[in-house]
Amino acid sequence: MSRRALIVGTGAALPPRRVTNTELAERVDTTHEWIVERTGIEARHVAGDGETTATLATEAAKKALAAAGIEAKEIGLIVLATSTPDQTFPASATRVQTALGIDDCIAFDVQAVCTGFLYALSIADNMIKGGMADHALVIGSETFSRILDWEDRATCVLFGDGAGAVVLKATETGDKGILATRLHADGRHGDLLYVDGGVSTTGTVGKLRMKGKEVFRHAVTNLAAVLDETLEAAGHVSSEIDWVVPHQANKRILDATAKKLGLDPAKVIVTVDQHANTSAASVPLALDVAVRDGRIKPGDLIVLEAMGGGFTWGAAVVRY
Ligand code: COA
Repeated sequence: MSRRALIVGTGAALPPRRVTNTELAERVDTTHEWIVERTGIEARHVAGDGETTATLATEAAKKALAAAGIEAKEIGLIVLATSTPDQTFPASATRVQTALGIDDCIAFDVQAVCTGFLYALSIADNMIKGGMADHALVIGSETFSRILDWEDRATCVLFGDGAGAVVLKATETGDKGILATRLHADGRHGDLLYVDGGVSTTGTVGKLRMKGKEVFRHAVTNLAAVLDETLEAAGHVSSEIDWVVPHQANKRILDATAKKLGLDPAKVIVTVDQHANTSAASVPLALDVAVRDGRIKPGDLIVLEAMGGGFTWGAAVVRY
């Protein structure tokens, strides 16, 4: 049996402030009904003063460590997926490391927008397989509220803040663990979903810009293709899947992807209604919800998938 990574704990964190569609309708020309019908979103959480990507990530990481029964000092690797770091540098992962009281481990951020968690998970999985660490924290954490144009109704209603984390542990026995991951990027679509600022261009943070309809069109095709590819790499077929934990961008994308793959919609974990799109945090947040409410059980075959700016997209097949 070759070395692989097991998911042994999950955790999540949401800022306490919950913003409903009705509240947003007081700021921009929209309605609760329009947002629910087009996206499935009913509410999102928004970070307040002092709440940052690193503080949310730390809270999620502590809960994942507690669920795993693993001490922070055992962690040899932290990979934090985010497009909204606390600072340009140092990496927010090192802020989390210090907040957890870990003096020395590998720690860095990964930026692949909404696919960030899949990229981070794949990197950590391969580093564990390569013997670089025995225990890893993989975190997705975002504060997209800080890069939204709150005057643009076509984008500001879609996103929220939050964090999710998993603890990975190396194993050489059993049939559980991360069975396959697959990642993609196609930079030709960079102008469909981007931030109009940056360190080396405008010197400002910038705001999120998106051509929603075009993103939607690509999302369903790319997600269905990478799910098929990753299942094949893992030696499984879609009828064997117990749960799909998708990136939570839009309920209509979730439904369309499930349909394209012939999956029972009841097997798709949905949190977009309460969290909106939390970018790199959405997959581990949804995973944590479904593990804690008892839907995902040890031994289940689960599939994680995401698509985001870049475009980037990817999937993982896991025997939980
Ligand atoms: N409230 C009311 N009307 C809105 C609105 C809002 N919040 N946002 C946009 N509209 C309007 C538009 O201005 C447009 O009006 P017009 O026809 O007078 O110009 C109309 O609704 C239709 O806009 P359109 O963009 O064509 O709507 P849509 O059905 O494509 O839905 C999205 C818009 C953004 C919900 C949808 O395209 C989507 O979800 N795309 C994918 C986005 C995504 O998931 N991105 C992240 C990937 S990681």
